[in-house]
Amino acid sequence: MKILFLNGPNLNMLGTREPDKYGTNTLKDIENFTRIEAEKLNIEITFFQSNIEGELVTKIQEAKGIYDGIVLNPAAYTHTSVAIRDAILAVNMPVVEIHLSNIHTREDFRKISLTAPACIGQITGFGIGSYKLGLLAIYDYLNK
Ligand code: DQA
Repeated sequence: MKILFLNGPNLNMLGTREPDKYGTNTLKDIENFTRIEAEKLNIEITFFQSNIEGELVTKIQEAKGIYDGIVLNPAAYTHTSVAIRDAILAVNMPVVEIHLSNIHTREDFRKISLTAPACIGQITGFGIGSYKLGLLAIYDYLNK
């Protein structure tokens, strides 16, 4: 099983970015943690981060036929990106949306996800654990 982890804008700043909301792990720490979990399940994972919406759209398009599913933290694009939502619908692949923070307890504009309705589900608010839970969710979905 091959799973692509896609990370949106400013997630490259994790570690020093608003640690009260996002914790002190860097994205590399999160990747290493997720990789250990993936190895236990014999899942091959790839991590990618971009601050550019179109690069995320292209990665989703290119994932078709290469990956079995995507775990996506669209970051701020969650709340704005029709293009990412349309890309998910276009590839017709299972995508799990994840967030470190609980977007439903934050500002009103964060409570709306344009991307989640195109996904099989959303995991939000478990910090680094959201990456592990996202992996388990897609693994479980693909094994049904
Ligand atoms: C986030 C939540 C988003 O609202 C925010 O723009 C992010 C990170 C999270 O993981 O909690 O950049 O996706």
